[in-house]
Amino acid sequence: MDTLTITRPDDWHLHLRAGAALKDTVRDAARHFARAIVMPNLKPPIVTTEQAAAYRTAILEARPRESAWQPLMTLYLTEATSPEEIDTATSSGFVHGVKYYPAGATTHSEAGVTDIDSVSAVLERMEKNGLPLLIHGEVTDPNVDIFDREAVFIDRVLAPLMQRFSELKIVLEHITTSEAVQFVGEADSRLAATITPQHLLFNRNQLLSGGIRPHYYCLPVLKRDSHQKALINAATSGSPKYFLGTDSAPHGRHDKETACGCAGCYSHHAAIELYSEAFETAGALDKLEAFASFFGADFYGLPRNSDTVTLRKSPWQLPDSCSLGDEELIPLHAGETLQWQVVGD
Ligand code: NCD
Ligand code: ZN
Repeated sequence: MDTLTITRPDDWHLHLRAGAALKDTVRDAARHFARAIVMPNLKPPIVTTEQAAAYRTAILEARPRESAWQPLMTLYLTEATSPEEIDTATSSGFVHGVKYYPAGATTHSEAGVTDIDSVSAVLERMEKNGLPLLIHGEVTDPNVDIFDREAVFIDRVLAPLMQRFSELKIVLEHITTSEAVQFVGEADSRLAATITPQHLLFNRNQLLSGGIRPHYYCLPVLKRDSHQKALINAATSGSPKYFLGTDSAPHGRHDKETACGCAGCYSHHAAIELYSEAFETAGALDKLEAFASFFGADFYGLPRNSDTVTLRKSPWQLPDSCSLGDEELIPLHAGETLQWQVVGD
């Protein structure tokens, strides 16, 4: 098989940033995808529907002319979020989820939630309104090893949360472990998970073996190869519980190549191509379309896209560097060769 036509994909987890970066991140996001769930972890975070509306306007202004790509907005959950704000968000028509960052878990998560019990009234309202909770699933307990933080989160926080809010729709974002695959697989259909290209293509050797490679550092951090295999099996299983979410999260080169570098990999220079590589390696290219283009839309209750993109097997080299506003950006897998290319690029 050397061409593959699929329904146009959507990205269910994306960081676009703000200001000068938008012209680059939005252009890349809109190139092959139809829609994206836009993460709210700006500084300051997007905590109200009104702020989400203004951010959405700025994003649409940065969108290339003629593009029909759509940003799907989210709110950043804080301990000050009110149930009324959830009603406003739900009725807006453009807010599609609320993101829960455990305070301190990742980039720009300081304003997140320390005690999940303190947001019970908000979660109840989301459950009632059918607005999904999007979870960064890692504990922040400094005594828990960083490679175990996702599995411990599932036991300590997610399992009790699902029991307590028995109808709340939840996306466990960017899963990285076999424990997460197993938990999502066994849960009822209101729980789904996104999977990034880096967690399908790489494991922690890529990050740490033969030298430390900061451009492969993201959170949750890459795990050992047995976890990578579990994620590949999940993504290619045909189960509607797993769908595409790149977690493309750009940071300028100088914020990555430093003594204490930022977490986040940029993948929208070649997102669908990176996933194609992972699916082909698994011998499962026939499963790519549903993962990339059907299951996320179905979970969010949105229509599937009606047009297509075509990929061709034709090796090409990823760029060494790109721009992020005024900064230089080193994209995921920079300078390496990929097998699949989108026709028309
Ligand atoms: C993200 C970012 O930079 O905004 N970083 C990352 O490593 N994934 C935040 C996040 O999604 O955790
Ligand atoms: Zn993210």
